[in-house]
Amino acid sequence: MYGLLLTFCKWLEHTPWGEWVAVTLWGYPFVQMIHFSGLSVWLGTNIAVDLRLMGLGKQRQTAAELSEGLFALNWIAFCIVVLGGFLLFSATASTFVGNIAFRYKLGVFIPLALTWHIVVQRKAKTWGRTQDVPAAARVAGFLELLLWLCVVTAAVEIPNN
Ligand code: HEM
Repeated sequence: MYGLLLTFCKWLEHTPWGEWVAVTLWGYPFVQMIHFSGLSVWLGTNIAVDLRLMGLGKQRQTAAELSEGLFALNWIAFCIVVLGGFLLFSATASTFVGNIAFRYKLGVFIPLALTWHIVVQRKAKTWGRTQDVPAAARVAGFLELLLWLCVVTAAVEIPNN
């Protein structure tokens, strides 16, 4: 199984986009900029809704209204994050799959945080209808914040592993 994954990684490294990101002088920083720009909007929109669910911030909109208003932007940003992440990964894929922090980030924390995000986003429609959010919503919002913090911490540890 791992052998098959490594074959796929080697293939990715020799694709035109993998070589472009790895070999050109500005390819890697340019794609990092794409990954980080997407991240700032993806995390920013998640954090805004989570804080509102926790009852924090100005109460101009309910959590349900905020979540609905940010929905499209939220998922467009996620597509940009994945595109940037995939291109960065393609540059030196076989090194990344052996990196323990990368494995935790992609194999554990992202699936957990993403699943929880989808649950919270769906639940926000009912939880966040009024300014008075239930205790479960506060806990759910806080938990999502913690899960994304785990993803970012694992990502930051990638170069140290
Ligand atoms: C959706 C949530 C994601 C978050 C919050 C996230 C966060 C980050 C952060 C903060 C960094 C910078 C690490 C540093 O240089 O200090 C990073 C780098 C990186 N990310 Fe992501 N990322 C996400 C998704 C992805 C996905 C889906 C992939 C792969 C398909 C990916 C692949 C990478 C790679 C390869 C790097 C470069 C690591 C390096 O150059 O050392 N990321 N990510």
